[in-house]
Amino acid sequence: MPKFHPLKIRDIRRETGDCVSIGFDVPAELKKEYAFEPGQHLTLRTHLEGEEIRRSYSICTSPFSGELRVAVKKVAGGRFSSFANEKLRVGQTLDVMTPMGTFSTKLSPGQARHYVAFAAGSGITPVISILKTALEIEPASFFTLFYANQRASSIIFIEQLDALKSKFMERLSVHYILTQEDPGTELLHGRIGERKCRLLCNAFLDTADVDEFFLCGPEEMIKDVKGALSKMGVDSRKIHFELFAAASANKTGSTIKWTPPARPVLSEITITLDGKTFTFDHTSSGLPILDAAQKTGAGLPYACKGGVCCTCKAKVLEGAVEMEVNYGLEPEQVAAGYVLTCQSHPKTSRVVLSFDE
Ligand code: FES
Repeated sequence: MPKFHPLKIRDIRRETGDCVSIGFDVPAELKKEYAFEPGQHLTLRTHLEGEEIRRSYSICTSPFSGELRVAVKKVAGGRFSSFANEKLRVGQTLDVMTPMGTFSTKLSPGQARHYVAFAAGSGITPVISILKTALEIEPASFFTLFYANQRASSIIFIEQLDALKSKFMERLSVHYILTQEDPGTELLHGRIGERKCRLLCNAFLDTADVDEFFLCGPEEMIKDVKGALSKMGVDSRKIHFELFAAASANKTGSTIKWTPPARPVLSEITITLDGKTFTFDHTSSGLPILDAAQKTGAGLPYACKGGVCCTCKAKVLEGAVEMEVNYGLEPEQVAAGYVLTCQSHPKTSRVVLSFDE
């Protein structure tokens, strides 16, 4: 079960004009709880003007660095990201949820693989964690990164990436793509859409030789790159993706609209959390199950409420539900009965869910 603990801010580093990274002190007794996989994220919680705000940010360090750090890019109108960039100070404490997320892969020293990532803007955050860890743990593996930004000055972690290029000269190649500045070559200029993805792949790699792809950025980029890769014959099981705005439901900019069922189902919902079980009645045309449960006073875990972060994941033990969107669960998890309760509506007259499975 994910849990919040208050963690003190050890340092705040300015990465670009509109992005800071925040390092946390983890007390010795919590080290185990905050052990993480590369690519995972943390949900931060605070109160601003009397309102509770939760946002998820990807961890940008590697597990063996001994450092727990996230990067927060200021977004227009973003209350938490503005607070983090302008007001947060070293020594303050934030509620930090234990690490979550499945945007990752199993790494092992004996593997010789080629990993490729497409990232845009702050989508670099989980990718740099995976990249550093993979190159460190697997001495025979290669990594190719295509990283899109508006201009050179907005490239997050540019110094780290350049240092990594020097350290892993033979095994890491990084290609910066700029959308609002001329990088001197047409190939590296403009948004990463379907055509650009195909051109970049044709120029720099053979997709048949790539073992895994990681995509992190806005929904449109992910959709386009996935489309291009599948047209080039890449097996969808090799493609991992994470939406850039894991932070907030309403900021994912999703174009998918859910239509409530024409004939709503009245359902008895039973939920088990931390060994305790409670039941309430709910209709499929109303709020998602997570919100409906919260109205009854239940303290279920959540962060983004947008189908991205998986903090609200539970297993369906009886009955069936329908999800509005799912950007976070892998197909195997869905097949095993897991759902995102912030997106779920009952389909049967009885639904039994467990957060403890
Ligand atoms: S709360 Fe993030 S996926 Fe449900």
